[in-house]
Amino acid sequence: MTRLITVSGGKGGVGKTTVTSHLGYALSEFGVDAVVVDANLTNPNLGFHLGIPLYPVTLHDVLRGEAHITEATYIHNSGLRVVPAGISIDDLEDTSPENLKDVLKDTIGEPDIVLIDSAAGLGNESLSAIEASDELLLVTNPDLPSVTDALKTASIAEDSGTHILGTVLNKHSGKHHELTPEEVEEMVGHPVVSVMPEHDVLKQSLTKKTTVLDHDPEHHISHKFRGVAADLAGIDYEMPSRGFFEKLKRMFK
Ligand SMILES: Nc1ncnc2c1ncn2[C@@H]1O[C@H](COP(=O)(O)OP(=O)(O)OP(=O)(O)O)[C@@H](O)[C@H]1O
Ligand SMILES: [Mg+2]
Repeated sequence: MTRLITVSGGKGGVGKTTVTSHLGYALSEFGVDAVVVDANLTNPNLGFHLGIPLYPVTLHDVLRGEAHITEATYIHNSGLRVVPAGISIDDLEDTSPENLKDVLKDTIGEPDIVLIDSAAGLGNESLSAIEASDELLLVTNPDLPSVTDALKTASIAEDSGTHILGTVLNKHSGKHHELTPEEVEEMVGHPVVSVMPEHDVLKQSLTKKTTVLDHDPEHHISHKFRGVAADLAGIDYEMPSRGFFEKLKRMFK
């Protein structure tokens, strides 16, 4: 059965779209039939993260009842299927996020996993994404405002019966002013499933309009995302150890 997983966290800019695109990419590398959906209807940008920003038919057309979801589903060169949202200002009108659940039930074929990239905040579109999904993956940063928003998102998901998979603690630098993974776990009340470091490679790959897995496949961030994707899909994956010579080699690359 298809698993509908929303990636959300409340706060803007914490890395929801980055996590969605990277996990989607990693899942398709593993041969999992995965679809990523841009449910950020007001400020969509999943397409930019995957190097395909402009599409003729989008989720907005589907939500308006003007197209079937099959017409708004595109195959990325990684094999990942993408349902983008429209980026024009006109797309902001007459869109009903409440239709998301019904629309997603029609996803072409029977994908193993659908990852839904949620908007920031807890407005109509984020709530619709949470309600449309069976499971929720939280994304937060190691600071109080982000974690407070993640906690709110978790409470809303619990009330709507959405299972919480855990938290990706993103942009972690380990500096002393940051909340620790243990503190985040305690505050949010759900396990931290991955601690993703703050790293320029994520900005570099975004500039290249692709994922780190494509831009630098052996980077430890690529392996970290593969690790989370493998856990999500129940796949055995051994993270390569980063020996001294490997680190040295990469420093001179
Ligand atoms: N671990 C990281 N290290 C460094 N930069 C990161 C990291 N994760 C994400 N970023 C950068 O942070 C910015 C925001 O990321 P992203 O768009 O994924 O956040 P978002 O939560 O989806 O934002 P929004 O709420 O606007 O949808 C991007 O420039 C992205 O490249
Ligand atoms: Mg986003």
